[in-house]
Amino acid sequence: MVTKKDVDEVKEAISGDEEIEEVEEIEEIGEIEAVKPAKVKKEDKPAKLIDIPGVGPGAVAKLEAAGIYELMGLAVLTPSGLSELAGMSETVARKAIQAARKMMDMGFVDGLAHEEKRKELFHITTGSKNIDNLLGGKGLQTKAITEAFGAFGSGKTQLALSLAIGVQLPIESGGANGKCVYIDTEGTFRPERVRQFAEGIGANPDKVLKNILVARAFNSDHQMLLLDRVAEMIKDGEPIRLMIIDSLTAHFRAEYSGRGQLADRQQRLNRYLHNLMKVAEQNNLAVYVTNQVMSDPAQMFGDPTKAIGGNIVGHACTYRMYLRRGKKDSRICKLIDSPDLPDDATAFMIETDGLKDIDI
Ligand code: GTP
Ligand code: MG
Repeated sequence: MVTKKDVDEVKEAISGDEEIEEVEEIEEIGEIEAVKPAKVKKEDKPAKLIDIPGVGPGAVAKLEAAGIYELMGLAVLTPSGLSELAGMSETVARKAIQAARKMMDMGFVDGLAHEEKRKELFHITTGSKNIDNLLGGKGLQTKAITEAFGAFGSGKTQLALSLAIGVQLPIESGGANGKCVYIDTEGTFRPERVRQFAEGIGANPDKVLKNILVARAFNSDHQMLLLDRVAEMIKDGEPIRLMIIDSLTAHFRAEYSGRGQLADRQQRLNRYLHNLMKVAEQNNLAVYVTNQVMSDPAQMFGDPTKAIGGNIVGHACTYRMYLRRGKKDSRICKLIDSPDLPDDATAFMIETDGLKDIDI
């Protein structure tokens, strides 16, 4: 439950000095001293297939045609497999694989170093303490993909809008001091709703909207291209900490609807998710994706709905939440198959000024 104390805390975080320094290109949300430009580390360019000795443009084209775009794909091949795919001798193939493995630094790190790396993570409040707790206490996590799937009207987009504001809050208030990129595939982004949510926490709606970079994706190719654009914007210094894709699967589903197209669709979805995870990890940002459900005729007992995209989406998403309507217009949110959190469920209401927690 959101207690009065929580609300007061947020209000306190929001109130303060009226005179706020304008930060270059960044709009602060109301009196929240939020969204200082993050120091964006210029990362070394990741090595590409073409950088591997013995792999020329012809071989790259053949590998890409076989669905191998990155060093990892090549590094896990056998010499005979690579020789066949790329039309090179086995000796050259063996050397190429060894080179790729070396370049990738596929080694181990000790537990302490791993722990250090995890400390860099940011968390982003969903606007509901209940859902934040379900996700381990602090909401969404960077370097991870969180999926919400559920029927229409179950609250996936409302949660997205709430997160788009949450990310802008200062770290002490549960945000990540960052901007949000919103990839809208269905034209359901509603600035009016963002305004209402912003007013609900006492933030300046104009400034909140200014920190949400919205792009409409018209088809799945466009959706994939936009991802490159996001990576570029981050390199150019935009302090983006959250990327929302609403919906992840709708275009793929519509474009590959015929019989016999399922394998193609899954392959492309897989590639997209793989790229999403790469952008999330390289730039320390959180990814929130929404996904529809369909009914599963094979399910005789229990809930007959299942998420689109099957195992490909299920495995690629670090955290999966299933949203559905509950009693009296409440929404139930269930965490499913999490790698490090118990499967659990919680409830909330969608109200005009935000998400409100309720007990189940
Ligand atoms: P699809 O995109 O159709 O798959 O559904 P979704 O899961 O994204 O649904 P969404 O998050 O858009 O939830 C829509 C529901 O949110 C509506 O049915 C309403 O119950 C609720 N809702 C939307 N706007 C308001 C509002 O201004 N006030 C209140 N109280 N509820 C709202
Ligand atoms: Mg929606």
